[in-house]
Amino acid sequence: MTKRTPIIAGNWKMHNTLAESAALIKGLTENFENKQNAEIIVAPSYTSLAKVAELCKGTAIKVAAQDVHWEDKGAFTSAVSPVQAKDAGATHTIIGHSERRSVFGDTDEILNKKVAAALRHGLTVIFCVGETLAQRETGETLQVIEAQLKNGLKDFTAEQLNGLIIAYEPVWAIGTGKTATPEQAQEVHAAIRQYLATAYGNDFAQATRILYGGSVKDSNVDEIMAKEDVDGALVGGQSLIAEKFRRIINFN
Ligand code: PGA
Repeated sequence: MTKRTPIIAGNWKMHNTLAESAALIKGLTENFENKQNAEIIVAPSYTSLAKVAELCKGTAIKVAAQDVHWEDKGAFTSAVSPVQAKDAGATHTIIGHSERRSVFGDTDEILNKKVAAALRHGLTVIFCVGETLAQRETGETLQVIEAQLKNGLKDFTAEQLNGLIIAYEPVWAIGTGKTATPEQAQEVHAAIRQYLATAYGNDFAQATRILYGGSVKDSNVDEIMAKEDVDGALVGGQSLIAEKFRRIINFN
């Protein structure tokens, strides 16, 4: 079985001024030993992107945009293109976060165009999927997730998607303090890997990192990371606190 390098990613959402961003990076890098050799990624707001990328040069931390537009440039007031994100120093971008889907109305079709734009410019995509509580309760979880993958990643080959990162984030667990049990996470992660194997082949499925997100904390990261198909975490709230995020990066 392929040994996958773990990824611990922090999604800062709409938090942190420039000074707070700088302080957080300092808190993550000073006297820090990355015990698991995890890939570390932070996703600051656009206003802090260039500054954070600058501060992360020469460290193990990579920088992601939280989203990108599907066009390279143009009359799209307030949007940020993949060209601009890359120019600011991002190597990765989150696409399809549940807040983008539910608050900003990103549909599968829009997300598919955003994935295309990111790939066109060599940004590594962290593609998020996840079911609502109602969907879980009616037993639709796996169907919902498969549809999100199928539609969001439509028309790409395994070669084009090489390096893709998937984040499974049950909507009911994001920012609620409610975490999926390790068993619930494992069940969905295994189903995602199975879907990837069917759609893109076994090598692709075995190489793809699948992160869990939704109230990951220093107190529950170890048991979640212990599951076979969980290759990392996408962390919101606790990624804003250096001490907590350091502990999550150094999961056991
Ligand atoms: P949370 O957010 O860790 O605060 O639940 C996770 C996410 O939205 O990526």
